[in-house]
Amino acid sequence: MLEAQTQSKLKSTNKTGQQDTREYLAFCDFLEKTSGITLGENKAYLVKNRLRPIMEAHNVESLSAATEKIKSGRDPKLKLEIIDAMTTNETSWFRDQYPFEYLHDELLPKLASNRMGTPRIWSAACSYGHEAYSISMIIEEYIAKNPGSFPGGIQIIGTDISSRVVASATKAEFDYLSISRGLSEERKKKYFIQTREDYYKLNEKIKSRVRFQNFNLLESYASLGKFDIIFCRNVLIYFSAENKTEIMNKFSQSLKKDGVFILGASETVTNHCTAFEMVKCPRGVVYKPV
Ligand SMILES: C[S@@+](CC[C@H](N)C(=O)[O-])C[C@H]1O[C@@H](n2cnc3c(N)ncnc32)[C@H](O)[C@@H]1O
Repeated sequence: MLEAQTQSKLKSTNKTGQQDTREYLAFCDFLEKTSGITLGENKAYLVKNRLRPIMEAHNVESLSAATEKIKSGRDPKLKLEIIDAMTTNETSWFRDQYPFEYLHDELLPKLASNRMGTPRIWSAACSYGHEAYSISMIIEEYIAKNPGSFPGGIQIIGTDISSRVVASATKAEFDYLSISRGLSEERKKKYFIQTREDYYKLNEKIKSRVRFQNFNLLESYASLGKFDIIFCRNVLIYFSAENKTEIMNKFSQSLKKDGVFILGASETVTNHCTAFEMVKCPRGVVYKPV
């Protein structure tokens, strides 16, 4: 059964394109319900192109046949592959810079003076792991300047809905183009060794602080435990207002007392969630639960 919004979009489409539009809109409904990702109205061509190889491999002829097959539960791999293909995994090292400066200058000194158990940091929607590993590099550099700061270590958890990017992040091997995006020459030399032509392996110490797992932000967060800092950047822009509110509320409940929530530079909790207050930092903002 298509939703009211979908029905009204159909009315505005001419007869020739109605079947295609119906199929596409039903697929959009399905994708939003399973992953939170909302697609624009004019992306049908792009979606079909992206999904064509997967549909051929799974022997399905149309978007509606793919949606039906997934709903029937007959092909769980098809669902994973389609969600993988529909995610946008754009990322870079030290993206936006200021969250990492703030982590180094404000958050780590506070956590170090606290000494209440092992600090935990969550990189939610971590893509290929650049954010989680940038956090680990900052911790490494902080400890080098402040020896003995975190005797019990710091745990970083990176999660993403896409099993493809989680597998790649866990491997911690990057091509030259990928290590060039946001990393200084100094950090490249310090944290990577070339393993084969055009491939660079991340230093074991930086890698060992981070654990990755497959996780859908629409699920319950109870199994993950509480965190001192949550980074969730550049993913909620793809979500509906309703899902943004639900997810931000769940993040506020997943933070320890005095925990900090960090969004992308173009994102805000304003108009979405009242569970946080804004804290200005030198070159941006972060959020604390009220
Ligand atoms: C544009 S990347 C952002 C990566 C990183 N946070 C950054 O700012 O560079 C967005 C990531 O969100 C992930 N994603 C999309 N929907 C998700 C969901 N429902 N649960 C978890 N991750 C999701 C995608 O797979 C993708 O890797």
